[in-house]
Amino acid sequence: MNKNGKIGIFDSGIGGVTVMRELMKVLPKENYYYYSDSKNNPYGDKTEEEIKKLCDNIVQYLIQQDCKMIVIACNTASAKAATFLRQKYPKINIVAIEPAYKMVYDYAYDKPTLVMATKGTIESEKFNLLLEKYDNHKTFLIPCVGLADRIEKGDLEQINEYLKAIIGNYKNKVENVVLGCTHYPLIEQEIEKVLGKVNFFNGAPNLAKHLKTILEQKNLLKDGEGKVEFEDSQGLLEKKIRFFEILENIGGTRSEIQK
Ligand code: DGL
Repeated sequence: MNKNGKIGIFDSGIGGVTVMRELMKVLPKENYYYYSDSKNNPYGDKTEEEIKKLCDNIVQYLIQQDCKMIVIACNTASAKAATFLRQKYPKINIVAIEPAYKMVYDYAYDKPTLVMATKGTIESEKFNLLLEKYDNHKTFLIPCVGLADRIEKGDLEQINEYLKAIIGNYKNKVENVVLGCTHYPLIEQEIEKVLGKVNFFNGAPNLAKHLKTILEQKNLLKDGEGKVEFEDSQGLLEKKIRFFEILENIGGTRSEIQK
């Protein structure tokens, strides 16, 4: 493992772009290799065995791409496969996103809270342990089946209709919203249109700081200019274009782009 290795990052699609943005803010000099598994999207309704297998293949592939670290930028994959992957690949650092429910405990414990995530994340053992530990007893769990898929397609009208149907009843009744899927930070405005003003909780900024600490401790920080490579499992050019468009819109600043 060397300093010039890449940071591999993957999701079932382009949602992990919201994690990527946070990584680039704190680690602008790194090279990133983003893998979007659109071929197998969505992960939210898949079994644990299926997800482990898909993630295992991606991790092997990212290692071949000379990645010094791997970021699981998908809450569903983290919930179902992170432990398995860490056991299988003990030599590579694997950092995994999870719903920022502990942040609610730390900063806004007394407020009614909505957790939005995929069905897979909400039903997972990992998330339920988190919930048990930090339960504020005013928490509503919303499995948003099909929402990541709608965001992936980018049809705002469909997204708005969906949100009204699934969280409309919570209008003005919750103050915290945990964005438990990496696609959801892309629709904060749409969520507030339905719920009114809320505080969003997203695990990505803390994950990025944590990753930086690991690289510092291991003396693996890269210097110089960084770049972002993108690959989609179906080779879809539109995914690539959309990924970089979104990345720019939400604050990514990287100019040099490869692949
Ligand atoms: N972006 C993924 C997550 O954070 C899941 C989307 C999907 O269902 O594939 O959970």
